[in-house]
Amino acid sequence: MNKDFLSLNDWSREDLDAIFALTQQLKQQQKQGEPHPVLAGKTLGMLFEKSSTRTRVSFEVGMFQLGGHALFLSSGTTQMGRGEPIQDTGRVMSRYVDGIMIRTFSQELVEDLARYSSIPVINGLTDMYHPCQLMADLFTVIEHKGSYENQVFCWIGDGNNMANSWINAAAVFGFELRIATPDGYTPDEGVKQRAKDAGAKILYTNDPFEAAKGTTVLNTDVWASMGQEEEQELRKRAFEGFQINREIVAAADAECIVLHCLPAHRDEEITDEVIEGPHSVIFDEAENRLHVQKAIMATLMK
Ligand code: CP
Ligand code: NVA
Repeated sequence: MNKDFLSLNDWSREDLDAIFALTQQLKQQQKQGEPHPVLAGKTLGMLFEKSSTRTRVSFEVGMFQLGGHALFLSSGTTQMGRGEPIQDTGRVMSRYVDGIMIRTFSQELVEDLARYSSIPVINGLTDMYHPCQLMADLFTVIEHKGSYENQVFCWIGDGNNMANSWINAAAVFGFELRIATPDGYTPDEGVKQRAKDAGAKILYTNDPFEAAKGTTVLNTDVWASMGQEEEQELRKRAFEGFQINREIVAAADAECIVLHCLPAHRDEEITDEVIEGPHSVIFDEAENRLHVQKAIMATLMK
């Protein structure tokens, strides 16, 4: 098993399935009010170079529920923001805490941090990947559909960190994935190539209806991610027609579920009607960040 949780394709399907099994157990214990202090006395350092609601709250609450403690460290109030090298941050943090969760821009920086840290490092989102979100999404699919097997997954929108993570997931878990993005906003070429080499079943198209037809899990994300705020208007025009709305839902399987990692821009990438509609499991998905990350931390930090 890996020391760190940086990207899904560093992990085997077997080890990720074990995290889902532990998620189920921890969620049940939490719902029944049964204490589960498996990380008693342990501390998680949480480094943030980007904004967050769900990631911060779910990791912090998760550590508390596991009997441990979490420290919120933003780049603006630590020496990281003043240019202290990540190699030094990793080595110093390793002397104090038992695990690090980091949200930042560069995937390479997270990999460097992991290399220089003797403790587990968890990727809480980079420009390239958002693996904890993917685990919460797949756990939500397991809860609503019984399994991720035999589902047809559809991504409509930007070829961003979430899309890249779905490609990794399709390669690791072997499910069918269809990705519809506008030309010029396709996922990372290296990620696509690795998935292809691993035998992943993925269709890439610029036709959202071709991707949505008959799918059982519809999924999207904002058109301008954190760090792309100045491209917002340009992207709004480029992504016209790539919205998850009632027409797309009608093209999907009648029993399809709709995911969105949140935060959403209602009536841009997804309509308000679909977010609030009968196919949406978006708030279960948000809740599952808590449960799945507790299982990830318990697996890595115990
Ligand atoms: N989905 C997600 O990661 O949300 P936050 O940006 O609020 O953490
Ligand atoms: N793609 C989005 C995800 C936010 C959770 C971003 O990177 O801003």
